[in-house]
Amino acid sequence: MVTDWIGWHRDYDDPGSSLARRLVVVREHLARALAEFPGEVRVISLCAGDGRDVLPVLARYPGPARATLAELNPGLAQRAREAARELDLTGVDVRTGDAGLAGTYLDAAPAHIVTTCGVFGNISEADAARTIAALPALLHPGGVVVWTRGHGGIGPDPSDALRACFDRNGFEEVAFTRPDDARFRVGVHRLNAAPQPVATLAGRRLFSFAR
Ligand SMILES: C[S@@+](CC[C@H](N)C(=O)[O-])C[C@H]1O[C@@H](n2cnc3c(N)ncnc32)[C@H](O)[C@@H]1O
Repeated sequence: MVTDWIGWHRDYDDPGSSLARRLVVVREHLARALAEFPGEVRVISLCAGDGRDVLPVLARYPGPARATLAELNPGLAQRAREAARELDLTGVDVRTGDAGLAGTYLDAAPAHIVTTCGVFGNISEADAARTIAALPALLHPGGVVVWTRGHGGIGPDPSDALRACFDRNGFEEVAFTRPDDARFRVGVHRLNAAPQPVATLAGRRLFSFAR
């Protein structure tokens, strides 16, 4: 099944939607994470969509910022480019490409912040584990990952397995938002272990979208 990702983004236009609420939380966490890194900051956003979570927050960041956004859908990637231009963000590079392939953004690593929003719910558990295990090679020491996961409403909350996986891979939890009345979760994890060499990711596939 091929998802209509442009249509998926329309939910953002309804301010009462779960997605619009999630956006507010992601932006808040991202702004807090950015504030930890005075000076030039580097961000990598995997499956960036139209960039509406990252770009407005970067525009308010007082220091120089470089961001690499990887997004497969050319229409969404183009929207992200236009948004960056409108916000006067000259350090943003939107790549129309497969974020499952580390080579798409490897030259932008190490980053201070990596975002994986709207990713883990669309890939297998094994791919999510592989991606989390690869994140230490994309980050500076103390770098931060901002991620999201939805809960379908039945059974264990899949975000708990992801939190445990971050823990196993040398991350500490900085924040975790699980609203009582919504199914989205937003996690923020900081790398507490030594980063791995970026070269370990050369030529590697981390994930494929399951739908
Ligand atoms: C659930 S949306 C999340 C978009 C954005 N991160 C957000 O949270 O608003 C998933 C996005 O991943 C993109 N996508 C799907 N497979 C991809 C891949 N292999 N590489 C890069 N982007 C991909 C889709 O086009 C879509 O924009």
